[in-house]
Amino acid sequence: MKLNQKRLALKEENYPRRIVRECCCMNPYKMVIAVANQKGGCAKTTTAVNLAAALAKGSKKQGLPPSKVLLIDLDPQGNCATSFGVEKKKVKKTAYDLLANESGENLPLMDEYLIPPKQLTESMQEAWSMRNGGKKAPTNLSVGNLWLLPSDIHLSGAEIELSHKIGRETRLREALAPIIDKFDHIIIDTPPSLGLLSINAMCAANWVMVPVQAEYYALEGFSMLMNSIKMIQRRINRNLKIFGIAMTMVDARSKLSRHVCDQVNSKMPKKLFKTTIRRLVKVAEAPWSGAPTVLLNKPTNSGAGAGSLEYWTLAKEYHHRVLAMRREFGVSEQPRLLLERKNRM
Ligand SMILES: Nc1ncnc2c1ncn2[C@@H]1O[C@H](COP(=O)(O)OP(=O)(O)O)[C@@H](O)[C@H]1O
Ligand SMILES: [Mg+2]
Repeated sequence: MKLNQKRLALKEENYPRRIVRECCCMNPYKMVIAVANQKGGCAKTTTAVNLAAALAKGSKKQGLPPSKVLLIDLDPQGNCATSFGVEKKKVKKTAYDLLANESGENLPLMDEYLIPPKQLTESMQEAWSMRNGGKKAPTNLSVGNLWLLPSDIHLSGAEIELSHKIGRETRLREALAPIIDKFDHIIIDTPPSLGLLSINAMCAANWVMVPVQAEYYALEGFSMLMNSIKMIQRRINRNLKIFGIAMTMVDARSKLSRHVCDQVNSKMPKKLFKTTIRRLVKVAEAPWSGAPTVLLNKPTNSGAGAGSLEYWTLAKEYHHRVLAMRREFGVSEQPRLLLERKNRM
């Protein structure tokens, strides 16, 4: 059944609006995607930040249309904000305030919680100037369609605080429901554990993207992650599926690196992204310059822009997967930016 037909059918049967919204939001066509892996340092944040920035910015050259993106940081380390040069002291409301909300009422997310594109652009430009001896930042170091829900260290207490509260696993899903239709993609960065924060992310999401670092221990953690996803599917979120697995920090010269890629490919060939991300200094340096590599470095086949090109290619592959899936399900949902432009005319 097509998405709108399903929505209408539920409405006609007088289901409450919240249920209609939830059923339609938690369908396989909406892109709410948790970037998860309990292993630390496997490039979850780097992948979430670059994917979000590339999808939001879009590029004619790369054949990727711009879309409206919300990036949510559920890691108490708060690295998503710093990846865009946002100073921690400038962050007001965070994911913690959202999860700790006891009132159950809708929160003014768009106005008070999310950092808007203009502010993200300003902070990237300020950070660039600071790192480059006060020079003016290039004007194309900007992002127009990206909102960020930042986090801070307070979030580390949320797991304990929420542990005895009702609805602790579904707090994020409930809080997002009113704004879910405003975005084409919602990308959630998760902490390196399978605790309540990651469970909240996988409960709000309908897809999981797994970055896997091409090294030996990665495979051990991988099966644990698959078991956790299965448990969440069985108990709290039947809609959760694996969207894709991205190999990160690959070293093509290392035998081990190739072995891990082959192993993951033999386990889940359909899920593995063709694009692999190599271990490259420029990718690691980008957060220090206060902008994701896809915005900071012009994509090139080699040299400084190689990492940028790899993340652009990953974003393109992601986009094509989404299109193919929508075609398969018969959903012809238009990108939000197009719809908004049409409404304005
Ligand atoms: N492709 C890459 N090449 C080199 N360094 C990388 C790459 N991807 C990530 N890093 C670095 O590895 C570290 C861990 O990455 P991060 O994205 O923070 O992982 P996680 O969020 O899974 O803990 C960071 O210092 C990051 O800059
Ligand atoms: Mg991280």
